[in-house]
Amino acid sequence: MSTTISDKESREKAARHVEAERPALEFGAAWDYAPAPESKDHVRLEERYGLFIGGRFVPPRSRKHFATINPATEEKLADVAEAGAADVDAAVRSAEEAHRKRWSRLSPAERGKYIYRIARLLQEKSREFAVLESLNGGKPIKESRDVDIPLAVAHFFYHAGWADKLAYAFPRHGVSSIGVCGQIIPWNFPLLMAAWKLAPALACGNTVVLKPAETTPLTALHLARICQEADLPPGVVNVLPGAGETGAHVVNHPRVRKIAFTGSTDVGKLIQRALAGTGKRLTLELGGKAANIVFEDAALDQAVEGIVNGIYFNQGHVCCAGSRLLVQESVAETIIGKLADRIATLRLGDPLDKNTDVGAINSKAQLAKIRELVACGVEEGAALHQASCRLPEKGFWFPPTFFTGVAQSHRIAREEIFGPVLAVMTFRTPEEAIEKANNTPYGLSAGVWTDKGSKIFQVTSKMRAGVVWANTFNKFDPTSPFGGYKESGFGREGGVHGLRAYVELS
Ligand code: NAI
Ligand code: MG
Repeated sequence: MSTTISDKESREKAARHVEAERPALEFGAAWDYAPAPESKDHVRLEERYGLFIGGRFVPPRSRKHFATINPATEEKLADVAEAGAADVDAAVRSAEEAHRKRWSRLSPAERGKYIYRIARLLQEKSREFAVLESLNGGKPIKESRDVDIPLAVAHFFYHAGWADKLAYAFPRHGVSSIGVCGQIIPWNFPLLMAAWKLAPALACGNTVVLKPAETTPLTALHLARICQEADLPPGVVNVLPGAGETGAHVVNHPRVRKIAFTGSTDVGKLIQRALAGTGKRLTLELGGKAANIVFEDAALDQAVEGIVNGIYFNQGHVCCAGSRLLVQESVAETIIGKLADRIATLRLGDPLDKNTDVGAINSKAQLAKIRELVACGVEEGAALHQASCRLPEKGFWFPPTFFTGVAQSHRIAREEIFGPVLAVMTFRTPEEAIEKANNTPYGLSAGVWTDKGSKIFQVTSKMRAGVVWANTFNKFDPTSPFGGYKESGFGREGGVHGLRAYVELS
């Protein structure tokens, strides 16, 4: 990638930090990687995308379009229609009709067949979708290729299997669908979040109005094409790109029966307020500030890989990121040293390069937020450590970063940064680790690293977090429920638990 260094001063300062603590390793020969870019020839981008309503791409009644860009280059990829109130109304009516006349009347096994078809088509086109996801969102191709797309496919396959088995999921109950579901998703895992939302809703016999995030609408629109190819009855899935205003129209539409939202806690609270008293159902999957706890008896090298995966995966744009590292005092120095060495080897750059570990920050606004919080960490007196990698000239970039000397009261220890920035703190006893880990308004995930099975049970059972990983991190599976405590939201997605949000029981 190109060579100009932006933010030169802060990075030099950071480099000095790392260098001061870790003498540079001397190698006889410099090892470098040749560029290994994934081809984009097989991705067919439209110049202009319409709204997907009633099984067709239509021009927006709002007459508005917005440009969607590649955050790694700031180049425009396409113009995308923005749904206004009238468009949302049209989509909801179409979804309602599709629910009443077709989808809820279809036999569950037939419904399942459509979902299997979507899963297979997506699997066939997984290369196209991986490239598109990386182009539009900035994530490394190895992640979109190996994580986002296969997991999205797995969610469709898994839920296709449930479609005709709901009676077993809810024994001794009558099970029926709810109706039109409004689903609003974020930009960090655009296709995967679309799959998390659509697959269970469809399996349970509901129809959907999906609003992708404003910076990453493309894979959802291409998924709409797959719905067409799968001959999904018109109106069962509608895709309406737009920003917060479009989302608010979906939330407030009187004929929407259920809202599923993944995004910031602030917007989650707005939605909860808007829905209070309406009788609409709601699930919220919001922010996080997960503790990743490393005990002195852990396999330390393995733990370092888990720490790196926990916070630098997807540039740290992960709601369940392990953004607070709690390390036992006796091994803190070792872990911090290994971490500094390890982040120096992470390759930042072109998201389409197969060797890239850290891609582009999703948007200018998100980059500004990360910079602000990092500056605040320095201001508050924590010590900044940053990989001294070169940042490309164009696009939005932030180097892998961690802070030591962090106090529990620091903003970087309390607020979701949603970037490649880790706050390192220490503890002496398991009790102290538990206390510190739970000292957060969030409760989405946590990680525990130890060689002792008994300690795993002791500590994980005391974590106020929806998902707790032991000796691993950021592992996902459609059979496993995911969701939060406290300000991380409520409701579960995935597994048999996730079905509950999409059915009416009698
Ligand atoms: P956001 O919560 O504003 O956006 C998420 C989705 O909600 C997008 O589709 C957006 O268009 C929609 N939205 C925004 N305002 C809405 C409203 N009033 N009614 C209905 N829908 C609305 O998140 P944003 O602004 O993109 O990111 C800000 C911060 O939020 C991030 O820095 C991060 O800390 C956090 N965030 C957390 C996510 C998570 O999965 N935990 C995902 C995205 C953001
Ligand atoms: Mg916002």
